[in-house]
Amino acid sequence: MQNIFVTGGAGFIGCNYVRLLLEKHPNYRVIVFDKLTYAGRLENLQDVAAVYADRYTFVQGDICDAQMVEATIQQHDVDTIVNFAAETHVDRSILEPDAFVKTDVFGTYTLLEAARKLGNLRYHQISTDEVYGHIEGDQRSEEGDKLHPRSPYSASKASADHFVHAYHITYGLPITISRGANNIGPYQYPEKVVPLFVTNALNDQRLPVYGDGKQMRDYQYVVDHCEGIDLILHKGEIGEVYNVGTGQEMTNLEMVEILLDELGKPRSLIQHVEDRQGHDRRYCMDVRKIMALGWEPSHTPEEAIRATVRWYVDNRWWWEPIRSGEFRQYYERVYGNRKVLA
Ligand code: NAD
Ligand code: TYD
Repeated sequence: MQNIFVTGGAGFIGCNYVRLLLEKHPNYRVIVFDKLTYAGRLENLQDVAAVYADRYTFVQGDICDAQMVEATIQQHDVDTIVNFAAETHVDRSILEPDAFVKTDVFGTYTLLEAARKLGNLRYHQISTDEVYGHIEGDQRSEEGDKLHPRSPYSASKASADHFVHAYHITYGLPITISRGANNIGPYQYPEKVVPLFVTNALNDQRLPVYGDGKQMRDYQYVVDHCEGIDLILHKGEIGEVYNVGTGQEMTNLEMVEILLDELGKPRSLIQHVEDRQGHDRRYCMDVRKIMALGWEPSHTPEEAIRATVRWYVDNRWWWEPIRSGEFRQYYERVYGNRKVLA
């Protein structure tokens, strides 16, 4: 393993992973392949480009473009693909599912075909706990469970997982899949709940909590997730799926209270609004399989929330330009006419 093709490396988790990969493996070369959608940003990697100029290459391209994917893989003698590239926001998938099917399903298929044709390359797929769907009571999703996706986003990610598995069974492609819980931390586009709420609160804007706010999530620190991905890439069993999360859950309201306390902002900023269509009430995964590989998270969800809040407080240069761009039209579309609950 030496020349790693990281798709979606200019996005939130991808850029954190690229940093970790280059720091941890001094003999690796990293080729980031990214379309630079609204969520992909070169400034996420500007320090990487400066520090690791000799081992890091950026290529702007679409994972649905087979010709370009194959040419780039050949040109850089790639032996390993890690696929982060995706459309990732549930609310956008409700408004416009089209791009989700294209990138998350067809794009994954395109990468799998390239991996198969160009010498059965090592392939790792970044997936999500959302493919399991809403989890009842105190149950936890295990890797072998049936998938029950319920949003256009999770349906496209689940479909990708099935393709990855099928390429392993049918063609013997050496694959692994990781299913991550909700990530938070540096460089997350402020459409996702934690950075949205921190940046709203810093601007003294209300925090739109969907429905009763009692939905449960496992908020994990992005760097912990990246450590898990790296372990699976190197030590995971080929053909296997691994859940990656803290295994600890909290309600969205609990998350908001920690966030506001860390900022020193009042609870009166909370505003309950009309719920998301088809909203999954609870995700919760069993993470014993990756822990048996020797991984454990370094942050509890509460520590992850507090560290994330501090990063946004310290890095206005990063998010202020985003919030004044395309984001404004998006915000108006999702929240402009949303009913406020009593
Ligand atoms: P993100 O939206 O921040 O970044 C996605 C990146 O993919 C961007 O850089 C974008 O430009 C790129 N991209 C989109 N379409 C592309 C295409 N057609 N070709 C090439 N590049 C393209 O997403 P993220 O939160 O960093 O998520 C990364 C991966 O992790 C996704 O596969 C997502 O499903 C998965 N995941 C995310 C979370 C989370 O909480 N954010 C949790 C579990 C799994
Ligand atoms: P999100 O960050 O979109 O991640 P996901 O839906 O993929 O888990 O949302 C996390 C939780 O926060 C989810 O239960 C929906 C909720 N949420 C709100 O209450 N208000 C918001 O404005 C957003 C974006 C999310």
